[in-house]
Amino acid sequence: MSAEPTRRTILGAAAITAVSAPLLVACSGRKVAPETTSGTVIAPLDAVPDGDTVVVMTAAGSPVVLSRDGDSVTAYSGICTHQGCSVRKETEYLLCPCHNSKFDWDGSVISGLAKDPLPPIAVEVVNGDIVAAG
Ligand code: FES
Repeated sequence: MSAEPTRRTILGAAAITAVSAPLLVACSGRKVAPETTSGTVIAPLDAVPDGDTVVVMTAAGSPVVLSRDGDSVTAYSGICTHQGCSVRKETEYLLCPCHNSKFDWDGSVISGLAKDPLPPIAVEVVNGDIVAAG
Protein backbone atom coordinates (compact mmCIF):
# COMPACT_ATOMS: atom_id res chain seq x y z
CA MET A 1 0.00 0.00 0.00
CA SER A 2 1.31 3.43 -0.93
CA ALA A 3 2.00 6.13 1.68
CA GLU A 4 1.16 8.76 -0.92
CA PRO A 5 -1.97 10.74 -0.04
CA THR A 6 -4.87 9.98 -2.33
CA ARG A 7 -7.11 12.60 -3.91
CA ARG A 8 -9.85 11.52 -1.47
CA THR A 9 -7.52 11.99 1.52
CA ILE A 10 -6.50 15.46 0.39
CA LEU A 11 -10.08 16.55 -0.34
CA GLY A 12 -11.22 15.17 3.01
CA ALA A 13 -8.54 17.10 4.89
CA ALA A 14 -9.44 20.27 2.99
CA ALA A 15 -13.12 19.83 3.85
CA ILE A 16 -12.36 19.32 7.55
CA THR A 17 -10.19 22.44 7.55
CA ALA A 18 -12.88 24.51 5.81
CA VAL A 19 -15.53 23.42 8.29
CA SER A 20 -13.45 23.73 11.45
CA ALA A 21 -11.64 27.00 10.74
CA PRO A 22 -14.57 29.26 11.75
CA LEU A 23 -15.06 27.21 14.91
CA LEU A 24 -11.42 27.64 15.83
CA VAL A 25 -11.71 31.37 15.30
CA ALA A 26 -14.87 31.47 17.41
CA CYS A 27 -13.35 29.50 20.28
CA SER A 28 -9.62 29.73 20.05
CA GLY A 29 -8.49 31.15 23.33
CA ARG A 30 -7.88 34.45 21.58
CA LYS A 31 -7.41 37.67 23.45
CA VAL A 32 -10.34 38.59 25.66
CA ALA A 33 -10.47 42.17 24.42
CA PRO A 34 -11.24 42.94 20.79
CA GLU A 35 -9.12 45.18 18.63
CA THR A 36 -10.54 48.55 19.61
CA THR A 37 -7.89 51.20 19.21
CA SER A 38 -8.91 54.71 20.12
CA GLY A 39 -11.08 56.26 17.44
CA THR A 40 -12.34 52.96 16.04
CA VAL A 41 -16.05 53.17 15.22
CA ILE A 42 -17.72 50.21 16.91
CA ALA A 43 -21.31 50.81 15.76
CA PRO A 44 -23.78 53.60 15.04
CA LEU A 45 -25.61 54.75 18.18
CA ASP A 46 -28.85 53.84 16.42
CA ALA A 47 -27.78 50.18 16.42
CA VAL A 48 -28.49 50.09 20.16
CA PRO A 49 -32.10 50.77 21.15
CA ASP A 50 -32.35 53.11 24.15
CA GLY A 51 -32.53 51.08 27.36
CA ASP A 52 -31.37 47.90 25.66
CA THR A 53 -28.23 45.77 25.32
CA VAL A 54 -27.00 44.30 22.05
CA VAL A 55 -23.97 42.38 20.84
CA VAL A 56 -22.43 43.82 17.69
CA MET A 57 -19.48 42.75 15.60
CA THR A 58 -16.78 45.27 14.88
CA ALA A 59 -15.48 45.71 11.36
CA ALA A 60 -12.56 43.54 12.48
CA GLY A 61 -14.98 40.76 13.44
CA SER A 62 -14.85 41.08 17.23
CA PRO A 63 -18.02 40.93 19.33
CA VAL A 64 -18.73 43.90 21.59
CA VAL A 65 -21.56 44.14 24.13
CA LEU A 66 -23.19 47.60 24.04
CA SER A 67 -25.74 48.91 26.56
CA ARG A 68 -27.44 52.26 26.01
CA ASP A 69 -29.14 54.70 28.36
CA GLY A 70 -30.03 57.75 26.31
CA ASP A 71 -26.82 59.09 24.83
CA SER A 72 -24.72 57.17 27.36
CA VAL A 73 -23.26 53.85 26.23
CA THR A 74 -21.25 51.24 28.12
CA ALA A 75 -19.27 48.58 26.31
CA TYR A 76 -17.72 45.25 27.19
CA SER A 77 -15.77 42.75 25.22
CA GLY A 78 -18.04 40.05 23.85
CA ILE A 79 -15.20 37.53 23.91
CA CYS A 80 -15.70 34.92 26.62
CA THR A 81 -12.95 34.94 29.21
CA HIS A 82 -12.94 31.14 29.42
CA GLN A 83 -11.63 30.15 26.01
CA GLY A 84 -12.50 33.00 23.70
CA CYS A 85 -15.85 32.18 22.12
CA SER A 86 -18.25 34.97 21.19
CA VAL A 87 -21.06 35.62 23.65
CA ARG A 88 -24.59 36.25 22.49
CA LYS A 89 -27.56 37.99 24.03
CA GLU A 90 -30.26 35.93 25.63
CA THR A 91 -33.38 37.35 27.25
CA GLU A 92 -31.90 37.84 30.72
CA TYR A 93 -28.14 37.46 30.29
CA LEU A 94 -25.25 37.03 27.88
CA LEU A 95 -24.48 33.42 27.00
CA CYS A 96 -21.31 31.84 25.78
CA PRO A 97 -22.54 28.96 23.63
CA CYS A 98 -19.30 26.99 23.81
CA HIS A 99 -19.50 25.90 27.46
CA ASN A 100 -22.58 27.79 28.67
CA SER A 101 -20.98 30.48 30.79
CA LYS A 102 -23.46 33.22 31.59
CA PHE A 103 -22.61 36.88 32.06
CA ASP A 104 -24.69 39.76 33.39
CA TRP A 105 -25.16 42.96 31.37
CA ASP A 106 -22.26 44.55 33.29
CA GLY A 107 -19.94 41.76 32.18
CA SER A 108 -19.85 39.99 35.55
CA VAL A 109 -19.92 36.21 35.60
CA ILE A 110 -23.24 34.65 36.63
CA SER A 111 -22.23 31.01 36.22
CA GLY A 112 -20.14 28.63 34.17
CA LEU A 113 -16.51 27.90 33.46
CA ALA A 114 -15.54 31.54 32.89
CA LYS A 115 -14.06 32.95 36.08
CA ASP A 116 -13.25 36.48 34.93
CA PRO A 117 -15.74 39.17 33.90
CA LEU A 118 -15.97 40.52 30.37
CA PRO A 119 -13.45 43.38 30.13
CA PRO A 120 -14.92 46.87 29.82
CA ILE A 121 -14.14 48.95 26.74
CA ALA A 122 -13.98 52.73 27.02
CA VAL A 123 -16.31 54.29 24.47
CA GLU A 124 -17.80 57.66 23.64
CA VAL A 125 -20.49 58.84 21.27
CA VAL A 126 -19.09 60.98 18.47
CA ASN A 127 -21.27 62.32 15.65
CA GLY A 128 -23.83 59.56 16.14
CA ASP A 129 -21.31 56.74 16.33
CA ILE A 130 -20.07 54.69 19.29
CA VAL A 131 -16.31 55.07 19.15
CA ALA A 132 -13.54 53.40 21.17
CA ALA A 133 -12.13 56.04 23.49
CA GLY A 134 -9.03 54.60 24.70
S1 FES B 1 -15.40 29.58 25.91
FE1 FES B 1 -17.03 30.49 26.96
S2 FES B 1 -17.56 29.09 28.50
FE2 FES B 1 -15.89 28.18 27.50
